[in-house]
Amino acid sequence: MKGLFDLSGKTALVTGSNRGIGKAILYSLAEYGADVILHCRKPGENSESVIADIRNMGRKVKGVYADLANLNSANQIYDQIVEDFKLPDIVILNASMQIRNQWTQITDDEFDSQININLRSSLKLAQLFVPHMQKNKWGRLITIGSIQQIEPNKEMLVYAATKDAVLNMVKLLAPMYAPYGVTVNNVAPGTIYTDRNKEVLANSDFHEKIINGIPVKFIGSPEDCTGTVVMLCSESSRFITGENIFIDGGKHLL
Ligand SMILES: NC(=O)c1ccc[n+]([C@@H]2O[C@H](COP(=O)([O-])OP(=O)(O)OC[C@H]3O[C@@H](n4cnc5c(N)ncnc54)[C@H](OP(=O)(O)O)[C@@H]3O)[C@@H](O)[C@H]2O)c1
Repeated sequence: MKGLFDLSGKTALVTGSNRGIGKAILYSLAEYGADVILHCRKPGENSESVIADIRNMGRKVKGVYADLANLNSANQIYDQIVEDFKLPDIVILNASMQIRNQWTQITDDEFDSQININLRSSLKLAQLFVPHMQKNKWGRLITIGSIQQIEPNKEMLVYAATKDAVLNMVKLLAPMYAPYGVTVNNVAPGTIYTDRNKEVLANSDFHEKIINGIPVKFIGSPEDCTGTVVMLCSESSRFITGENIFIDGGKHLL
C-alpha cells in the first residue's frame, strides 16, 4: 500500500514512454500500483526492456505503437488497447517532437509535424479517452508541457506554440470535466537530461549557460518529473485541476 498516492486498480497510458521522461513516469505509476500502457512509434529494444521490467514489478502492461505524425494514430492506439486491455483511467500526453530552426527558415513540413505530433494528437487522444473517464466518474489527464509555454525560444517557435496551445486545452477541459471526478493538469519541465538535448548539452559553453539560468544550479533528470505526476494522478490531488506546475529548478522565475 502506498497510502496517499496509491494507484492500485488504475490503468495508465503514457505516450512516448519507451525512454526519457515518459519512461520514468511509466515506471513511477507502476511503482505506485497502476497497470500501464507503454506507447512509442515502433516496438524495439527499449520498449521490450521497459515492458519486461514492469512485468517483473507485478503489474499488467501492454505496448501500443503508432507514429503520432499519422492523422489516424490516436485511433490506432485506442484500437490496440481495446483489443485485450482496459481503457486507461489516467492518460499522460508526454510524447512530442522538437525541431530547432530559426523562425525565418521554418518549413511547412517542420510546422506540420510538430503541430500533428504535439497538438493534434493531444486533442485526438483526449477526445477518445476523456469520455471514458467521464462515464467512470474518475479520471486524470496530464499533459507534459514546457517552460517554453512562457519563454519563447528563438529556435523553436512552433514547438513552443504547440506547448502553449495544449495548456489552453487543459484550461478549457478542466472545469468542463471537474464535476465528473476528472482532473486535467499540465506539468511543464525546464531542462531535463534526455536523448533530445544530450548532444547540445555536451557543449561545455552551452551547458554552463543553461546552468546559469537555473536557480537550483543543476539540470533535472527524468525522475525529477515523476513525483508531481504521481501526486496529480492520485486521489490526494482530487481538488487540483486546471493547474500548470513548472518542474524547472525555478527557471521560470528569472
Ligand atoms: N527534456 C527536456 O529538457 C524537456 C524540457 C521541457 C519539456 N519536455 C517535454 O517532455 C516530454 C518528454 O521529453 P523527453 O526529453 O523525455 O523526450 P525524448 O527523450 O526525446 O523522447 C521522446 C519520446 O516521444 C516519442 N515520440 C517522439 N515523436 C513521436 C512520434 N512521432 N510518434 C510517437 N511517439 C513519438 C519517442 O518515441 P520513439 O522512441 O518511438 O521515437 C519517445 O518515447 C516532451 O513532451 C517534451 O516536449 C522535455
